[in-house]
Amino acid sequence: NWKMNMLPADTINFIEGLAPLVKDSENEVILCVPYTDLFYAWHTTEGTNIHIGAENMHWEEKGAYTGEVSGQMLKSIGVEYVIIGHSERRAYFAETDETVNKKIKSAFANDLKPIVCVGESLEQREAGKTEEVITKQVELALTEDLDGLTPAEVEQIVIAYEPIWAIGTGKTATSEDANNSIKAIRKKISEIYGNVAEDVIIQYGGSVKSTNAKELFETSDIDGALVGGASLKVDEFAKIVNYNK
Ligand code: 13P
Repeated sequence: NWKMNMLPADTINFIEGLAPLVKDSENEVILCVPYTDLFYAWHTTEGTNIHIGAENMHWEEKGAYTGEVSGQMLKSIGVEYVIIGHSERRAYFAETDETVNKKIKSAFANDLKPIVCVGESLEQREAGKTEEVITKQVELALTEDLDGLTPAEVEQIVIAYEPIWAIGTGKTATSEDANNSIKAIRKKISEIYGNVAEDVIIQYGGSVKSTNAKELFETSDIDGALVGGASLKVDEFAKIVNYNK
C-alpha cells in the first residue's frame, strides 16, 4: 500500500526494478497504488507476476459523485484488487462499517477482490477490547443489515488486520499477538460463513519490514502482510516478498 506516494515516473522505475527480483517468488505480489499511477502500473506489470490494486473505490457504478472513482473504472484499467476501509480512510474520510460493506459488494459486482482492513486503536487495545472491536468490524463489513455475501465471495476476500497503533509508528504487534487476533477474525468468519474461513487470506499490517516479516509469516494464521512504508523501497519490499528464500 503506497498510500499518497509516488508519481507515474516513480511507478515505472519501481516496477522495472522490482519485477526481476520477485519473478521466481511463489508468494503473490500486489501493489496498491494511487489512482494516478494505476494505468502506468498496469502497463509496466504486463508479463510479470505483479498484480495491481487500488487504495479505495466508490460503491456506485457512475453518476454525480464528483471526485470519486468506481469499481467499473478500476476494472477497465487492469486493476484486480482494491483496499477497502483502511484505518486512514475511516479516520480522515468518514469511512464507516456501512460504506465498507457497500464497497465490498460493489467490488465483487465489478470482479475486483477486496482487501478489507480492520484494526483496533491503542485506547481500545489498552481497554482489553481488541478482539471485540476487530470481530465486530469484520461482522459488519461482511454482513451489514444481515444482507451478507455468498460463501464463494467470502473465500475471495483478503482481510488485513492492521492495529492502528502499529501503523507508521515503528511499533509492531508481537507475532503471537497478531496471530491471536487473526485467529479470532478467522473464527468469526467461520461462525458466519462456515468452512470457507479456512481459505480466507488474512494478513497483518503495521510496521512490517524485512527484519520482522519472517517471524510474522511463520505463525499459524498470518497469511501475508499489508506493507506501507517498507513497500516504497524496491530492495526492502523485495526482501519481504522473498522472506522464505
Ligand atoms: P506501515 O507499514 O507504514 O506501518 O503502514 C501499514 C499500513 O497502513 C498498510 O496499509
